[in-house]
Amino acid sequence: MRIPDRAAAKLLAHRLITRWKLGEPAGHRRVAHDCKISGPVTIGDYTYIGGRSEIRAVLSSITIGRYCSIGRDVKVFSSGQAHRFDGLSTYPFYVIDREVERRHYNVETTDTTIGNDVWIGSNSIIQAGVTIGDGAVIGAASVVTRDVAPYSIVAGVPARQIGTRFDDGVAAAVAESQWWLLDHDRLMGRAGHLLRTNAALRDPEQLRF
Ligand SMILES: CC(C)(COP(=O)(O)OP(=O)(O)OC[C@H]1O[C@@H](n2cnc3c(N)ncnc32)[C@H](O)[C@@H]1OP(=O)(O)O)[C@@H](O)C(=O)NCCC(=O)NCCS
Repeated sequence: MRIPDRAAAKLLAHRLITRWKLGEPAGHRRVAHDCKISGPVTIGDYTYIGGRSEIRAVLSSITIGRYCSIGRDVKVFSSGQAHRFDGLSTYPFYVIDREVERRHYNVETTDTTIGNDVWIGSNSIIQAGVTIGDGAVIGAASVVTRDVAPYSIVAGVPARQIGTRFDDGVAAAVAESQWWLLDHDRLMGRAGHLLRTNAALRDPEQLRF
């Protein structure tokens, strides 16, 4: 048997740990080896996550759809990272005293949801409890503090809408097509369709796979 070198062993360990964390099958997702993923996190098939990104679900869950492109150094927050600031101290005393219940020291937020085909630029932060709609684009180094509409382009701190990907009618048709749920091999067989732009997509025939 060939003994793997250190780098190969590290990569293998990363793949196994990622598979264990994300559940089966994890093979369709690409998670950089130095990402931190923990807690109840669900990541859809074919989504990739760039290096040093952190997706840590503590006291609430994080769901990410299929075919998302998540850049490097992105952070997706959950309730466990939101300190309360309405009391005497913002300090999370549970970190030094195991008897103290964590939930009393964090702001309650709802779950964080990122749709399908979402592109998140590098260095962005997604605040806890936010919902990002299908097909949205998040500009580099943005801080997303509010829900983002499907197919909108947002950027900045705090992130504000700077554009949309499609006309309203086209966005509705793309949403209805739910192309991301199609069989992957069939989708790849019609890869040209995925490059159709707004003008071409005004013709509903162009959305038939
Ligand atoms: C969001 C993005 C896709 C927008 O691209 P675009 O549609 O070509 O946008 P434009 O360059 O025409 O900019 C439109 C406006 O938004 C602003 N803007 C664009 N990106 C911004 C960002 N990340 N943060 C703040 N403002 C931004 C521009 O300054 C411009 O403002 P103005 O109208 O006042 O001049 C792009 O700027 C971006 O951030 N891409 C992510 C790149 C990245 O992280 N890649 C690696 C990860 S895979």
